Amino acid sequence: QQKVGLVGWRGMVGSVLMQRMQEENDFAHIEPTFFTTSQKGTPAPVFGSNSASDGTHNGNGVLEDAFDIDALCQQDIIITCQGGDYTKAVYEDLRATGWNGYWIDAASALRMNDDAIIVLDPVNISEITSGIDAGVRTFVGGNCTVSLMLLALGGLFEKDLVEWASPMTYQAASGSGAKHMRELISQMGAISDNVKASIEDPATAILDIDQQVAEFIRSDDYPSEQFGVPLAGSLIPYIDSQLPSGQSREEWKAQAEANKILGISNAAQKEIPIDGICVRVGAMRCHSQAITIKLKKDLPVEEIETILASHNEWVKVVPNDRDATMQELTPAKVTGTLTIPVGRVRKLAMGPEYISAFTVGDQLLWGAAEPLRRMLRIVLA
Ligand code: HSE
Repeated sequence: QQKVGLVGWRGMVGSVLMQRMQEENDFAHIEPTFFTTSQKGTPAPVFGSNSASDGTHNGNGVLEDAFDIDALCQQDIIITCQGGDYTKAVYEDLRATGWNGYWIDAASALRMNDDAIIVLDPVNISEITSGIDAGVRTFVGGNCTVSLMLLALGGLFEKDLVEWASPMTYQAASGSGAKHMRELISQMGAISDNVKASIEDPATAILDIDQQVAEFIRSDDYPSEQFGVPLAGSLIPYIDSQLPSGQSREEWKAQAEANKILGISNAAQKEIPIDGICVRVGAMRCHSQAITIKLKKDLPVEEIETILASHNEWVKVVPNDRDATMQELTPAKVTGTLTIPVGRVRKLAMGPEYISAFTVGDQLLWGAAEPLRRMLRIVLA
C-alpha cells in the first residue's frame, strides 16, 4: 500500500476531508501517517479501518512532526490542508531533497505554478492523467468559487460555447475560516438578543425595531472581531486582498484558475474572460453565484439545460420555476451535500446569446476537500 502523509487533518477543510475519506473507505487503500505542526508524539487518530495491528495509524500510533523533512520524505503521497504558510515553509525543502512523491494541496500557494495542476477531475481528468504521465507530481485544489462554477457550467465550457462569463458571487462565511463561521452565528444571535423585547411586543413599530438594529450593528457591542465589519444584517462586497487591477484577489482567481483548469492558458487558445464581483454574505458554507454568460451562439434554453445536466453526475439542473428554485437552489438545501444545482437559466434582455444562471455549492466539499480525495484515488488507481 502507498504511504500517505496527512497534514492539517484537524482543521475545518481537513476534517471534512477525513469525513469524506471515511465515507468512501479511502483508508482501506492507504497506509496513513498523520502529521502535526504542534503535537508531535501525541496519539494519532483512527479514521475508519486500517491495516495496523494495534488499531492505530502511523505504525507506532503517534503523530509525526509536519516540519520534519525526513519524515515527509518517507511518504509516497502527501495531502495537506494545513494552509499556504505551511506549504511555503516545507515544499521547496522537501523537493530539494529529490523527493518525487505526490503533493496534493488545498492551499493556493502553488496553484499557478507551471509545474502544478489544479485538480477538478470531472472537468479536467485528461489534464490530470496526461500530467501524471508527463511527470507532474504537484496537484492543487482550486479556489472554491472557481471549482463550483466549473462543475455547474462544465458542459458549456467543454463544448467551447462560452465567449465570456461574469460571476457575481454570494460567498459563505466558511470561506474565511472556522472562527468566522462562529462569529456569523454570534452576530445573528446578538442582533436577535438586542431587540428581543421589541420583537415580542406586537405594538412596537417595525421602523423603531429597524432603527434599534441599525444602531446595534454599528455599535461596539456587535461582535465583528473576525470580519472587521458586520456580516449578519449586512454583507461585505470585498473578498481577499486588493490588487492594482481594481479586482480583489478572489475576483482575479476566476479567470486565471478557470482557464488553467480548462487547459487554456497552456494552449495557443485565447483565455476566456471571466470576471465579476465577489461578495461575502451570511450563509454558512455554501457559495452561490449569479452568472451572466455570453454564448458563442444562440441556443435554445432546453438545449443549454441538457448540455449542463449531462456534464457530470453532481450537477443538477433546476427548472427556471419559482417553487423549484426556492426549494432546490439555496444554501439551506445544498449544505453538506455534493449536489451542484444550477438554475435560473434564461435568455437575458441583452440578446439571444446572453443567458443567466444561478448555482450553489458546498464550499467545503466540492469547493475544497472532494477534489483532493478524488485526486488521491486517481493516484492510487
Ligand atoms: N477564498 C474563498 C473564500 C475560500 O474566501 O470564500 C477558499 O477558496
